[in-house]
Amino acid sequence: MYLHVLNQPYRPREAWKLVPALVRSCLRPPRMANWLRALADRLFKRTVPNARPLYIMVEPTNHCNLNCAMCARVLYQRDRPLQHMSLAQFQRIMDAVAKHAVVVLLWNYGEPLLCPDICAMVALAAKRRLFTVITSNGLLLDDRLARDLADSGLHYLKVSTLVEKEADLARYVAIADCLAKAKINTTNPFVDFTVIAADQTPELLAHTDRLLRAHGADSVSFRRLDQHFDKRPGRWAMPRQPQHSTCRRVFTSMVINSNGEAFACCYDLKLSRPLGNLLRQHMDDVWRGGAFNRLRLEMGEQLPPMCRTCPSPRYNHDVYLTIEEIERHAAAG
Ligand SMILES: C[S@@+](CC[C@H](N)C(=O)[O-])C[C@H]1O[C@@H](n2cnc3c(N)ncnc32)[C@H](O)[C@@H]1O
Ligand code: SF4
Repeated sequence: MYLHVLNQPYRPREAWKLVPALVRSCLRPPRMANWLRALADRLFKRTVPNARPLYIMVEPTNHCNLNCAMCARVLYQRDRPLQHMSLAQFQRIMDAVAKHAVVVLLWNYGEPLLCPDICAMVALAAKRRLFTVITSNGLLLDDRLARDLADSGLHYLKVSTLVEKEADLARYVAIADCLAKAKINTTNPFVDFTVIAADQTPELLAHTDRLLRAHGADSVSFRRLDQHFDKRPGRWAMPRQPQHSTCRRVFTSMVINSNGEAFACCYDLKLSRPLGNLLRQHMDDVWRGGAFNRLRLEMGEQLPPMCRTCPSPRYNHDVYLTIEEIERHAAAG
């Protein structure tokens, strides 16, 4: 049995480690009221939301220490000037969103652990009782950084795991060991290794699952490689999804890049629809402004070009594979 938390499937004992901190971040009257407003927006199919964003993705930096061939940063964002967000800028954004938001996701494109202020940013968000998540390629993690991240109050660390052959696993075992040592208690931070499922054998994926769990990973998840990046239809690539014309993300989340530019979704891979700038404008002027509302209205009529590369409007429900699905696939030959 799997339970969906933040749109990703977990076994009940894994979900149980995440839920208490998530609930704690909701238990503030303005956040609960905002969550109810978001429900009402959905129920009454409002095109201009009364609710403010519940999920905020902030990109601490777009610098990176890798050049992954499948990544939109490499494929479509080569002309972007590179910059770290400063702590003062991050604080300004938190001041604008923390009253109503519940979750802060600290990445978009680039490696968040390269940002010199990453631990201070986590601490700032965690102090405001926001549930904090980082996705990282993990390469910069050592005992000291792992400890600093745990001390900063990080709730959840996803390590993007690129495994093509068994020998690649040694690097991730070392990362798992270092994170296991740094944990403050059994849950802080919750550590997930997100394996990019492309063309590996089911045996290699099952071995990865067992090995990383044995080295202290709280969960190991398998994320299908998005097909549009990779023209070869790999064994685990996302199947084509039916076209959709509406999506709730534009009513509940906002993405803010390292230069303050706001977007509706991390799947605006070419950064084609900037909707304002949180460092120059009031949050409400962006969230309820003309550009954001035009996009929401468009979604109800015709799919905007940026959404054509979205793997699924149910996004994470469809992009994650469970180990049982992988094993079934193996048994079926
Ligand atoms: C863009 S990265 C940014 C954070 C960090 N640099 C990292 O690699 O985790 C965020 C996530 O997107 C995933 N990703 C990048 N390209 C992808 C693709 N074509 N299909 C599926 N996931 C992809 C990465 O593996 C990573 O888990
Ligand atoms: S490490 Fe992350 S951001 Fe950097 S190129 Fe790879 S997937 Fe993209």
